[in-house]
Amino acid sequence: MIPFVDLKTQYAGIKIEVNAAIQGVLDSCQFTLGSEVVEFEKEFAAYCGSPFGMGVNTGTSALHLALLAADIGPGDEVITVPFTFVASVAAIYYTGATPVFVDIDPRTFTMDPARLEAAITPRTRAILPVHLYGQMADMDPIIAVARKHGLVIVEDACQAHGAEYRGRRAGSMGDMGCFSFYPGKNLGAYGEGGMVVTGNAEYARKIRMLRDWGAEQKYQHVLKGYNYRLEGIQGAVLRVKLRYLEAWTEARRAAGRRYDRLFAGSPVPTPEAMAHNRHVYHIYAIRTSRRQDVQASLLADGVQTGIHYPIPVHLLPAYADLGYKAGQFPHSERAANEVLSLPMYPELTAAMQEKVAAAVRKAVG
Ligand SMILES: Cc1ncc(COP(=O)(O)O)c(C=O)c1O
Repeated sequence: MIPFVDLKTQYAGIKIEVNAAIQGVLDSCQFTLGSEVVEFEKEFAAYCGSPFGMGVNTGTSALHLALLAADIGPGDEVITVPFTFVASVAAIYYTGATPVFVDIDPRTFTMDPARLEAAITPRTRAILPVHLYGQMADMDPIIAVARKHGLVIVEDACQAHGAEYRGRRAGSMGDMGCFSFYPGKNLGAYGEGGMVVTGNAEYARKIRMLRDWGAEQKYQHVLKGYNYRLEGIQGAVLRVKLRYLEAWTEARRAAGRRYDRLFAGSPVPTPEAMAHNRHVYHIYAIRTSRRQDVQASLLADGVQTGIHYPIPVHLLPAYADLGYKAGQFPHSERAANEVLSLPMYPELTAAMQEKVAAAVRKAVG
């Protein structure tokens, strides 16, 4: 069986370093925030090309606090895409603001900037592009629209560690960039984790307070805050793993190119990486209108797959109150019906990919 994700093989390769890092936290007893988190914040922010990094407990919290730092709340609208993980939209809801959707560009699965201006109203305060699957959204036109209308940009970079757009790293192009360190992410904790990166010292100061009960100093609560702290053990593990991230990213990119070659000349539509982007292949999704059959056939041939995501957020029962209907975002709806994620991780071998590709070709017919 070729698994869809494989965290065990990666751990086996870094076990000695990771175990020592965890032991260090046990010895120091700095279990929440603490020096490992502080060092990781500096190292990851530098990796992103951003001056400030604030570690938090999840990617969802990162998005929530980024929006709060920009004073977004009830009565405001935040524009995002419906073809994303539900957390992008949930974070907007947490603030009391209203999510407003624009459709994706079907080539890249990311926000179509050409549709942005039509979604802007006097209440619009922010744009939240999602760098889905590891490819950055088309940031230049998004930034141009944001500047013209005085809007904040919060990048959802939860799937895009190390991705680049015209040489600039994910998280560093908007006002704030939000990352998840969920275990299966390109940079994954051994538990939960997240971070906001920014070049804005005031946003950084507010987020540092908001994640730790809004306190400027202990018991001096100046803002209504949250317990969104990043744990010391996660900071220590993430520091070890960050040292490998570039090598792992290059391995993912090589695996992406290999899949592309293996499917060349076949009827399998492969993901498009824009020439100006560094796609980091968190997900490698093909498209098929016979997804159920293809997925079952692959499983019978020993290949596990995933679907990211089967229902666009505007059609999820939880968000029915937004009042959207099927047919309003045809590219998102079609993608949700057709995408199929193939195994993708740095440890995937050429032989495994050949087996996957042969099984896909057979299933697609
Ligand atoms: C696009 C996107 N946004 C937000 C999140 C939320 O991150 P977390 O699971 O760390 O809260 C995730 C990952 O789960 C994601 O993939």
